[in-house]
Amino acid sequence: MDYEKVMLTYLKADKKRIAHTYGVKQRALELGKKYQADLEVLTISAYFHDITKLLTLKEHQKLINDDLLFQSLEPFMYHAYSAYQLAKQLNITNVKILEAIKYHLWGKIKMSLETKIICVSDFSEATRKHESAKLVYELSLKDLDLAYLKTLEETIDYLNKKGLKPHQEQIKTFNYYKEAYGTSKKDLSEY
Ligand SMILES: [Fe+2]
Ligand SMILES: [Fe+2]
Repeated sequence: MDYEKVMLTYLKADKKRIAHTYGVKQRALELGKKYQADLEVLTISAYFHDITKLLTLKEHQKLINDDLLFQSLEPFMYHAYSAYQLAKQLNITNVKILEAIKYHLWGKIKMSLETKIICVSDFSEATRKHESAKLVYELSLKDLDLAYLKTLEETIDYLNKKGLKPHQEQIKTFNYYKEAYGTSKKDLSEY
């Protein structure tokens, strides 16, 4: 199946989202080569990560098809879970691709290298113009783990500032990696 074509069909009404998707792909491949990740996994994950962004609430709910799960999600999370279900419906079975799509918002405890790269690329791809995107990109060329941690920190910060509640799993994941990467004593802004 031509996954690029599928992505273009789903996102055709939103040129910016398409540009963002290609930006994620480009960034992910750059980091994937540097850190020896699976480039095919990264390509397909990039195409799918925001593929359901334009769906209605009802369409998300139908794809997710799990009322309990649906209710536990914040609205900003719907698209990751519906994209994951859509990928499965389109016969994507590669567990790394499915993980990267579902967890692209903030990763997860014990994730693959590819998921980490997608998270960092989503935040720092070239069409993202904010200062922290540039910072995360530069950091990712030196230390992917710290770039990922910075991504989490900035995302949580952003949600708080907008009055949106970070998900408790997001906070848990952030605390886990803060501990795991031993940066609690380091000031990330030094990088
Ligand atoms: Fe997304
Ligand atoms: Fe995205």
